[in-house]
Amino acid sequence: MALVSSLELLEMAQQGHYAVGAFNAENMEMVQAIIEAAKELNSPVIIQTTPSTVDYASLDMFRAMVYEEAKEAKIPIALHLDHGSSFELCQAAINAQYTSVMIDGSKLSFEMNMEVSKRVTQIEKLANVPVEAELGTVGGKEDNHVVSEKDALYTNPLQAKEFVEETGIQSLAIAIGTAHGFYKGEPKLDFDRLKEIRDLVSIPLVLHGASGVPDEAVKKAITLGICKVNFATELRVAFTKGVREALADINLYDPKKYNGAGRREVKQLVMDKIRVCGSVDRI
Ligand code: 13P
Repeated sequence: MALVSSLELLEMAQQGHYAVGAFNAENMEMVQAIIEAAKELNSPVIIQTTPSTVDYASLDMFRAMVYEEAKEAKIPIALHLDHGSSFELCQAAINAQYTSVMIDGSKLSFEMNMEVSKRVTQIEKLANVPVEAELGTVGGKEDNHVVSEKDALYTNPLQAKEFVEETGIQSLAIAIGTAHGFYKGEPKLDFDRLKEIRDLVSIPLVLHGASGVPDEAVKKAITLGICKVNFATELRVAFTKGVREALADINLYDPKKYNGAGRREVKQLVMDKIRVCGSVDRI
């Protein structure tokens, strides 16, 4: 099947009261594991890459891998640029046939974030590619950007309404207490804030930083209106665990063997997360 627009997937999720898992891939094995897991559970899925992953390989390389793996799959798959750091990178992702992009202006002032998000949305509209933007700051470390948990600013509901109306974006990532990477204690999500945002904003809402968030909290966020859940760190950990365990055998030197072990771990994890998102058999 050809890749689909993530907006299509998110709107179906919003209507069906479930979420689509968006999984960060770092290499071919992770792309394969994510698609295999989704195929096995008849689930829609979003594969995404951050700027540092795109630097490591390239947009075209990831596009080629995802298109190739998706070709024979009978499930809807979208390819998304996660945390697009500039207008130019978003444009390059569109040129590389990514099917949605995120412009991350969350480090900028409210006004500047609005300006850059609007600019990307205007261009992407011409290409018919949906845009995700972020308001408020998800804590932790994503790529090379570090935000201390104390300084992480939660999304202001009234600003969210204004931001969505002004920019014309298709989905909004909100900050309600999650952080990228792992947590020191148990994360406390601000569900009241999520409800307030949901009441004021009708477009699909996105939860970043889901690694390490208890399944029950993710499920509750979905019942309150989250339609896309981003997972990255736990996939990296799963891949590395598989590789490390395989390499404990000092006579093993075939990359297919140890990378294959990483791939199996990622597939199991993604299947678990798809169940948490409630997207099994939603195609
Ligand atoms: P985690 O690394 O915490 O899963 O966050 C993923 C994410 O939000 C990617 O955008």
